[in-house]
Amino acid sequence: MAKGKVDALLGIVFGDEGKGKVVDVFTPKYDIVARFAGGPNAGHTIIFDGKKFVLRSIPSGIFSEDKINIIGNGCVIAPDLFMAEAKELEAAGYELRNRLHISKRAHLILPTHRVLDRAYEAAKGKNKVGTTGKGIGPTYSEKAARTGLRVGDILENFEEKYLALKARHEETLRQLHYTDYDISEEERLWLQGIEYMRTFPLTDTEVEINRALQEGKSVLAEGAQGTMLDIDHGTYPYVSSSNTTCGGVCTGLGVAPGRIGEVFGIFKAYSTRVGSGPFPVELFDETGDRIREIGHEYGAVTGRNRRCGWVDLVALRYAIMVNGVTQLVMMKSDVLDTFPTIKVCVAYEKDGVRTTDMPFDTEGWKAVYEEVPGWQTDLTTLTSESQFPKAFKDYVAYLEHQLQTPITILSVGPDRAQTIIR
Ligand code: IMP
Repeated sequence: MAKGKVDALLGIVFGDEGKGKVVDVFTPKYDIVARFAGGPNAGHTIIFDGKKFVLRSIPSGIFSEDKINIIGNGCVIAPDLFMAEAKELEAAGYELRNRLHISKRAHLILPTHRVLDRAYEAAKGKNKVGTTGKGIGPTYSEKAARTGLRVGDILENFEEKYLALKARHEETLRQLHYTDYDISEEERLWLQGIEYMRTFPLTDTEVEINRALQEGKSVLAEGAQGTMLDIDHGTYPYVSSSNTTCGGVCTGLGVAPGRIGEVFGIFKAYSTRVGSGPFPVELFDETGDRIREIGHEYGAVTGRNRRCGWVDLVALRYAIMVNGVTQLVMMKSDVLDTFPTIKVCVAYEKDGVRTTDMPFDTEGWKAVYEEVPGWQTDLTTLTSESQFPKAFKDYVAYLEHQLQTPITILSVGPDRAQTIIR
C-alpha cells in the first residue's frame, strides 16, 4: 500500500474467488474502499466473529468504522436491493450514512431492466449466458446507448424520467412478445429504495477520490466478478457487461493509470464458473462434486451449483498479463486438503494443436494437465508459513514459478483470521 495510490484487488478467473474476505482483511491499511464495476450480480461473502454477511453493491470496507466506502461511476445499482442490503447492515449496528458515498454517475437498474434480462435470455434459446437475472446487461447496454438513468437523476424531476424509460422498456418487451410479468410489488420497493438512496451522500466520487489521493490518502479498488467475465477479455459472449479488469478501475472510478499501485490478483487453488460458457478445466466426475461440496461452491447470489475444475494456468497467465498483476492471492487452499494428487492445467489442446496462450474462442479446447502430489494435511489451523507441509509449499512454489508472480497471501479457511500473509 502506497500513499496517493489506488491498489486494485481483482478476481482473475470467473469471479467467486473470495474477494470480500480479502478486502475485509486489507481494509485497515486503506483510507477508502471503492467498487468500480458491476452491481448486485456480485456477492461478496465476509465471515467474522461467527457472523456472515453477503455484500452485493456495498464495498467490503463497510465493516471498518473509520473508512470511507465508495460506489463508483462504473457501477450499476438497484435501489431496492441496495436498500435491503444497507438496512441489514444498519440492523446489525453499522452506521452507514457518513461512510458510504455513491457516484452520481453510476447507472440505475430499473425493475424493467430485470425483466429485459429475462426476456433476452429467453430469446437466446440454448445459447443462454446464464446471467444472474439482476438486469446487469440491459443496464450497461442502456448506458452505452446513452439512454440510461443515473443516480444523479434522482435529484431532479425523477418521476418523469423514470416513467419515460419504463414505458420504452415496456414497448421493447411487447415487441419481444414477453408480456407475462408483473413488477408492481418490485416497483413499490424500488421507489422506496430511491427515497432511501436520497438519504445518502450522492457525490462526484471521482473528484472525492482524486482529492484524497492528492492529500496522500490510499484507496483500495474492490473488483467484482473476474477477468474471464470481462466484457472485452473474458470468454465472450459468456461474460458480464462491464470491464472487470484493471482498466475498469481507471474508468470506473475516474482515476489516471499512473495512480494505480499494486494489483492483487485473486484466484482459488482450483477453478469454478457459474453460468454458461466454455470452461476447459471443468470436471464432470466425482472429483468435481467433491470440490463443490467441500468448497461450498454454490452461487452467493443465485444459489446455483458452481461448475468446478482444477486450477487453470492458461487463464491465470492471461489475467496476470491484462491486469498487470503484481501479487497473487490464493484462496481456499484448504479445500484440496484431502486430495492425494492435484492436477494443474498447463495448456489447452484442440484438433492436435496445443497452446499456452488464451485462444480467441475458448470453445472446444481441452485442458492438458500436469499432476502434483497433494499435502493431505489440515491447513485450516495453520497460522504461519513455517507450519506448511512440504507438499503444499511445493505446490505454491510450482504455481509461482509457472506464473512468474509471487503468491503473497494464502487463505486457509473462511474466517478473517485464517489468512496467512507472507
Ligand atoms: P450477469 O453479470 O448477471 O449479466 O451474468 C453474466 C455472467 O457472469 C453469468 O455467467 C453469471 O453467472 C456471471 N457472473 C456475474 N456476476 C458474477 C459473480 O459475481 N460471480 C461469478 N459469476 C458471475
